[in-house]
Order: sequence, then structure tokens, then C-alpha cells
Amino acid sequence: MKDTRKTVFLTGGSTGIGAACVRKFAREGWNVAFMDVNAGDGARLAAEQGVLFLEGDTRSRADLDQAVAAACRQFGGLDCVVANAGIHRCNTVLDISEEELDLMIDTNIKGTVHTLRAAVPCLMSRGAGSVVINASDQCYVGKPNSFGYGLTKGALGQIVKGMAIDLGPKGIRVNAVCAGTIRTPLTETLFQRFADITHGGDTGAYWRSEAALYPLGRVGEAHEVAELMYFLASDAASFMTGGLYLVDGGLTAG
Ligand SMILES: NC(=O)c1ccc[n+]([C@@H]2O[C@H](COP(=O)([O-])OP(=O)(O)OC[C@H]3O[C@@H](n4cnc5c(N)ncnc54)[C@H](O)[C@@H]3O)[C@@H](O)[C@H]2O)c1
Repeated sequence: MKDTRKTVFLTGGSTGIGAACVRKFAREGWNVAFMDVNAGDGARLAAEQGVLFLEGDTRSRADLDQAVAAACRQFGGLDCVVANAGIHRCNTVLDISEEELDLMIDTNIKGTVHTLRAAVPCLMSRGAGSVVINASDQCYVGKPNSFGYGLTKGALGQIVKGMAIDLGPKGIRVNAVCAGTIRTPLTETLFQRFADITHGGDTGAYWRSEAALYPLGRVGEAHEVAELMYFLASDAASFMTGGLYLVDGGLTAG
């Protein structure tokens, strides 16, 4: 019998926001395939959720081509791609090394472009589909010690707008989610470094100072971002494209 369920391909699904998306799409009855460099957590999550895990690095165009082909073989095509994989490093324009600049650009920008180039033709072959990019509140505001991150996430915001114009006539919607601080392995690691700089190494105090910046008085959780990413992927968002949508606890309201 033909599989009538929708299919999503995600990057960076092993932990954090990506893992919350894997769980959300699976709960909503979608076929889910995800690619990540973290094979241990990826395989565990895939077994738990009954979804397809593909080990690979988004910096490699070949890895993406292979992973998308495997997902299409398994599920017969794609309806949505979620470009989520990303990294953060602590730096300013004055101290970022050439290697770290390349790493940020290769992972956050080129990794996203590789994902889109591999997956969008699969959406187009169905005549409809949705692209969701995990950008950042740093499409809207600057933050300290986040030079490389901010420049790459700003680029993703622009990718969304240009792609929405190019692909709208082909039935493809393209949107980005711009989250404030979310408690994930990324921020757990990063904030140890930030705490060293501003709070004498007291990570707990750093997290409390971060939460105090938010009108809601707390940082976000991964599942709160996954809800918006799923909504943008779904037909409920059928007239939404080219948008950068905040899920930031009111941080940028002031
Ligand atoms: N946590 C936040 O506060 C926050 C806020 C806004 C946006 N984001 C974005 O959300 C996305 C997910 O981050 P997270 O916070 O869940 O962190 P995370 O570290 O838990 O998740 C990132 C995932 O991407 C994977 N990954 C990293 N580089 C990869 C590569 N080259 N190839 C394949 N997989 C790779 C990691 O293994 C990990 O599973 C990132 O793009 C991040 O920039 C995070």
C-alpha cells in the first residue's frame, strides 16, 4: 500500500531543538529522517522514535546528497526540509581566528546551503513543500561575544527571503524560526565560556542573569521552538512564506 504520510528531512536532530523536532514530527504522524554528526545520540533517538537516522556532516555536500537520497528511497520523497544543524563559538571581530571563521561559515551557512541544494529538488518534484530554517534572534539583534554566530545567522535570514521569492511560484514555502536563548547542549557549553568572561566562572549566576533579560523571566525550552517549526512546516501555515518568526520570550520586544 502507498505510504500517504508526509515526510520530513532534518539536519542536526540528535540533540536539542532538532531532537525536539524529531519527536514532534513523529508524534504528528510524519515519516522522519534526520542527519547528524553525533551518531550515538542520533541512533538512540531514532530507535526510541522509530525514525530513520543517517550519520553525516552538513559541511560535506556529498554527505547531504547521500542522506537525502537515502531518505527519499525509504519514504518515496520529501514534503519538508528542516535545516537546523548549527554551532556557536565565543568570539568578537577582534579575536576570531581564520579557522573559527571558516568553521562558522562552513557549518552554519554552507551546511544550510548544502541541505537546501540536496533537498529542495525533492520537494519540487512533488510540486509543493515547505522549508524551515533554524536561524536565530540574532537576525534581529546583536549579542556580545557572538560575532561569527551573528554574521552566519543573519545570512540565513536573507537566504529565506530570496528563496521564498524564487520558489514561491513552484509551490515551495520558505520560512525561518528565530529563537531566543533555549536550554540545549549548545547553550550549556557556550554559557560556561560566557560565565568565565562575565561571572567569574559561576555558570549558575550566568544562567540567572540571562533569564532576567526575558520579560517572561526565563529562557526557552527546545520543545517550545519545535512547536513553531512544526507549525511552519505544516499545511496550517499555507499562506506563510519569506518570514522570520520569533520565539523569544519577548526578548526583542523592548
Ligand atoms: N539554543 C539556543 O539558544 C538557540 C537559539 C537560536 C537558534 N539556535 C539554533 O538551533 C539549532 C540547533 O541548536 P541547539 O541549540 O539545539 O544545539 P545542539 O548542539 O543541541 O544541536 C545542534 C545539533 O546539530 C548537530 N550538528 C552540529 N554541526 C553539525 C554538522 N556539521 N553536521 C551535522 N550535524 C551537526 C549537533 O551534533 C547537534 O545534534 C542551531 O542552528 C542553533 O544555532 C539555538
